[in-house]
Amino acid sequence: MKILMVCLGNICRSPLAEGILKKMADVKGLNWVIDSAGTEASHVGDPPHRLSQKVAREHGMDISSQRARRFKKSDLQDFDKIYVMAEDVYQDILDISGKEADLSKVDLLLNEIYPGEDQSVPDPWYGGEDGYHEAWDLIFSACSQIIETYS
Ligand code: 4NP
Repeated sequence: MKILMVCLGNICRSPLAEGILKKMADVKGLNWVIDSAGTEASHVGDPPHRLSQKVAREHGMDISSQRARRFKKSDLQDFDKIYVMAEDVYQDILDISGKEADLSKVDLLLNEIYPGEDQSVPDPWYGGEDGYHEAWDLIFSACSQIIETYS
């Protein structure tokens, strides 16, 4: 499986998703490729937000070597599944890919645990540390379900 996690900046939510799913896949001995990207260009090349790094570290995970990159149209070919953190990210992917693009591989991450509800992982960017813990918990649950379903 090749799985891409996508948010807006690729510095808060999707780096957590990449780190969590990679670790879960490693523990299971799964030979999966897991990456993350953002639909906005403003943080390209940056490491994850310090609070994402902090929350990850508290869970024994080092995500400091990740660097933000922008989602590109060819990701639709290169990955088997593309999970977006929120509705606005889905819309951005639609805009970047063009209306002819096949978005059948793209789904909201939280549909793994709340099927059909199209819920978003709240964007922690504008708030305090609590939002990063909330993001961790939601993303962790969804990644557990991905492992359960696809391994
Ligand atoms: P992320 O959070 O999409 O979870 O990485 C954000 C990071 C940066 C911005 C917005 C959301 N920003 O507007 O710069």
